[in-house]
Amino acid sequence: MKEKYDPISKMFHWLVFLLVAIEFLVAAAMPEMRGETDVSTLTDLHFSFGLLIIGVIMLRGMWAIIHLRPFVTSKSDVSIHTEPLANAMHYALYISLIAMPILGWAWASSRALAVSFFGLYSFSPLIIPGISAPQLGAMHSLLGVIIVLLVLVHVFAALYHHYVTHDETLIRMLPVRLAEKMKIEQK
Ligand code: HEM
Ligand code: HEM
Repeated sequence: MKEKYDPISKMFHWLVFLLVAIEFLVAAAMPEMRGETDVSTLTDLHFSFGLLIIGVIMLRGMWAIIHLRPFVTSKSDVSIHTEPLANAMHYALYISLIAMPILGWAWASSRALAVSFFGLYSFSPLIIPGISAPQLGAMHSLLGVIIVLLVLVHVFAALYHHYVTHDETLIRMLPVRLAEKMKIEQK
């Protein structure tokens, strides 16, 4: 049996995708900081969007609990072997996206950079004892590369299901109207 995603879960999925895409674009555009404590508007945006990503993922998790649904799908039309793999991938994506802003926040704090949420709320510095600023920087950068790789594999898997195995894995994550249009095209 195929388990469908409800509209709110779909909305959360695509919102996270949009925010992560913006976050990487801002990261690429923001100036490199070389020890000075003044942060640019783009860097402030990077901090704010990063914190927003944690908030949205937490709301997505709460929605899964309230909605009495598993955080990731438990039933699907994929084979019994690939299902644990898909679940592991989904957890890995969300866990990395929670770890990433925490590392970024600790990295910013270790360099005495102020972290605020769109200028509305100032966060206290986050100090992780025993980890130096360069180590935090290396971890933040490395995790960035890992997230890109995970998303690429995830997107490849979604397209593989749609174009090679011709099942509904991609379709059921799409907005209803688009899903119906694509279902007709797939037949
Ligand atoms: C999911 C959320 C996030 C993603 C995907 C992300 C991604 C990135 C990427 C790709 C870079 C460039 C790394 C490099 O040059 O090697 C970067 C740099 C950085 N990020 Fe993040 N980041 C996130 C959240 C945050 C948060 C919440 C903060 C702080 C509150 C933060 C602080 C920083 C700092 C301080 C830099 C270094 C800027 C520089 O010195 O050039 N990041 N981030
Ligand atoms: C930052 C980017 C992305 C992240 C973090 C992400 C994460 C996730 C997660 C955690 C799930 C499990 C359901 C849930 O909890 O929401 C999921 C499902 C899914 N995602 Fe993504 N996703 C991303 C981008 C994409 C993109 C670009 C596509 C389209 C090609 C896509 C297609 C799908 C599909 C088809 C499913 C359903 C899989 C199934 O039911 O087994 N995702 N994604």
